[in-house]
Amino acid sequence: EKVVLAYSGGLDTTAIIPWLKENYGYEVICCCIDCGQGEELDGLSERAKASGASKLYIEDIVDDFCDNYIVPCVQAGAIYENKYLLGTAMARPGIAAKLVEIARKEGAVAICHGATGKGNDQIRFELGIKALAPDIKVIAPWRNDKWKLQSRQDEIDYCKAHGIDLPFSTDQSYSRDRNLWHISHEGLELEDPSQEPNYDHLLVLTTPPEKAPDKAEYVTMTFEKGVPTSVNGKQMKVSDIIKELNEIGGRNGIGIVDIVENRVVGMKSRGVYETPGGTILMEAHAQLEELCLDRATMEMKKEMGNKLAQVCYEGKWFTPLCDAIQAFVKSTQEYVTGEVKFKLYKGNIIKAGTTSPYSLYSESLASFTTGDLYDHHDAEGFITLWGLPLKVRAMKLQENKNM
Ligand code: ARG
Ligand code: SIN
Repeated sequence: EKVVLAYSGGLDTTAIIPWLKENYGYEVICCCIDCGQGEELDGLSERAKASGASKLYIEDIVDDFCDNYIVPCVQAGAIYENKYLLGTAMARPGIAAKLVEIARKEGAVAICHGATGKGNDQIRFELGIKALAPDIKVIAPWRNDKWKLQSRQDEIDYCKAHGIDLPFSTDQSYSRDRNLWHISHEGLELEDPSQEPNYDHLLVLTTPPEKAPDKAEYVTMTFEKGVPTSVNGKQMKVSDIIKELNEIGGRNGIGIVDIVENRVVGMKSRGVYETPGGTILMEAHAQLEELCLDRATMEMKKEMGNKLAQVCYEGKWFTPLCDAIQAFVKSTQEYVTGEVKFKLYKGNIIKAGTTSPYSLYSESLASFTTGDLYDHHDAEGFITLWGLPLKVRAMKLQENKNM
């Protein structure tokens, strides 16, 4: 029988390979899903082979991640607890879907992941798998009584005892998750919210704002129906746009967030996120919507965006609710087309002009010249009606006081 293992190439998931063979007798199919984690993928296939996996899949899902997860969340303005741009949360359902696809292809009976029993990721992987393949068994070693390894040294010793001699370091580092959209950092000094993050040590995608250039940098982006289509005049697919914006945002110190967030399992957890390109893209999209959407739609969209953030964070991507929210959001994007220009300076995004052929903003209407479209006298009657309920109430209160 076969098991598909979500493999990152790190020590944890490497130690899981002999553990699965020893405890379940499974043939282990490693599956490394590339969501844009960059150099983290170097040397992966050597490691998997040396660890006794029978097969390694490296699956590039970067464009799927962009088109089916990132773009819907950008369009919705989905941000968890007002700060977190959901980089890890958005990637998990796509990974789960790919794991299921490979499990089917291989005829595997189980899927194994290396997320801990304290976090959100276990929930996201497992809800994704349940929604797409309810018959497949899930193995989570970190929650499993047969898993006895407590430290990196334990894992290294265990690997050695099983003939796997790989150069893993025993140093504790941050718990990180990187993909095209972001990198997250948890652990070490961050576990104490009173501590300032050790930014010089920590940052991977961005420069600390105070070390960013003393000169501002301009960036322009275009969108068509809410989908990003170009950066600085160059048409590109979404994944390339995000890569380009990561470079630009990164060097200007954009998109660093330090948050104490509420995990699904009940605890608070402190983390630092770097989302340089994503922060620019989200703001640019919101900026364009300011011009193109009417007020009532914007209000409802705000609620839908918050809901989508929650649904995504909580691992409920493959649900009717998530589909319905996305359908709503998509229909609001019909006229979200235009160009946004920003000036970036030491961690700040400064607006530098927005244009759209569908802009609802009317300069003549907003300015003080009277035209055909707006007669000041109409405002008088409008205020009479608009204020009627509160006037009636005030009159009643007065009447009662005098009685
Ligand atoms: N707290 C974030 C989230 O729940 C980041 C999780 C990072 N995951 C990891 N395996 N390091 O989405
Ligand atoms: C983990 O526990 O595996 C990482 C953190 C999280 O899932 O929230």
